[in-house]
Amino acid sequence: MIKRTLLLSVYILLMLWVVYTFLRTKKTDELVFSIGAGTKEIRFIKTLIDKFEAENPAIKVTLNVLPAPTDQQHHYYITTCGAKNKDVDVMRIDTIWIAEFASAGWLESLGNYIDEEDRASFISVTEKINVFQGNLYAIPWNANIGLLYYRKDLLEKYNLQPPDTWEELIDICIKISPTESMYGYLWQGKQYEGLVCNFIEFIGSNNGGIIDDTGRIIVDSEQNKIALDFMHDLIWEYRVSPQNTHSELMEESSRHLFQQGKGLFLRNWTYVWDLCQEDPSMKGKVGVSQLPKFSHGKPASVYGGWHLAINSRSEKKKQAWQLLEFLTSEKVQKELALNLSWIPSRRSLYKDPELLEKLPFLPLVETALKDVQIRPNLPYYQWVSDVLQKHVNKVLSNQANSDVALRTINAKLEGIKSEFAEN
Ligand code: GLC
Repeated sequence: MIKRTLLLSVYILLMLWVVYTFLRTKKTDELVFSIGAGTKEIRFIKTLIDKFEAENPAIKVTLNVLPAPTDQQHHYYITTCGAKNKDVDVMRIDTIWIAEFASAGWLESLGNYIDEEDRASFISVTEKINVFQGNLYAIPWNANIGLLYYRKDLLEKYNLQPPDTWEELIDICIKISPTESMYGYLWQGKQYEGLVCNFIEFIGSNNGGIIDDTGRIIVDSEQNKIALDFMHDLIWEYRVSPQNTHSELMEESSRHLFQQGKGLFLRNWTYVWDLCQEDPSMKGKVGVSQLPKFSHGKPASVYGGWHLAINSRSEKKKQAWQLLEFLTSEKVQKELALNLSWIPSRRSLYKDPELLEKLPFLPLVETALKDVQIRPNLPYYQWVSDVLQKHVNKVLSNQANSDVALRTINAKLEGIKSEFAEN
């Protein structure tokens, strides 16, 4: 009798286990989340995914990790989304791709997923970027702007203040860097998207631009010429930027030089703050300010950021939205700001005392965001960017002068614009 009861119990337990396993497998929805970012960022995002899975046991998230440079990620999406791929559900996309991907039909329209109140809680600039032809296609995740990092310890040693103008920056570099055997100003000059961001910041800080609000191409201007000549002269005339700026310097290569103590000033995004804080050789030595301007201009940081979108071909859009809601929640954005110095896209966090303590430049970012430079929000932005990258870089590498380069860019952009208008 005891033996029979024992056997029956084992049998029941076995059945329960089989049913449980079946239901578990059956209920598990697997989401693929594509993301390219730095090593530390990916490591931290994995911990967030663990939390999401613990709160949503029916969903499993697989990270599809892409290379960090934006151009390489763009290439990946062009091939996968272009091939009508359904496997990727959630994508972390650069803000410059939204119009292009939306017009190609690759992004799910999100207007009906989010309520008005929630939508209004994000910083307003993101509405201009995430909306294409009246529809919302992405939710802002981390905001980003170009900042000026400087060696606070050295400026103090020489009794100098961070520069307001480019002219002051040159003066400070000339005073300090030869004695300290270091470069003056590190920025991103290689032929890639980062150069376009730097170019827009230089010309914007001299009241120049690429395309005005009415869609007119305004590249070939005197203000732009002054700014482009200045970029060239930083390397070849004042010699405060390394000669390989045009061939090597990207975000990471310039950051490494700065953290190795080889640069007085660095233009970079907000993620650099956290990395300098955790680097024992840099801790306490770095300050952050707005980018300088030309004497008649204004500081002109570019909005860079990474937003979240859903593949229009995903078969798990409901679960994908749950992941988006979790990752863009106030709670998670605060963790990202505390751990990675990612700038929140939720307005309320700009007044959070803990964040203000950890990211002392947050008020500066909040002010800069009100008048930030947005790269042209066009379905053919990539073509515009390619032209800018190539011809601005030619000036930096002494293959063309600024007159020729700006004239060529203007003509090429006119050509692209009319080609797209016809199609
Ligand atoms: C950063 C910005 C992104 C920009 C890229 C350029 O990742 O967030 O918007 O396109 O840098 O390199």
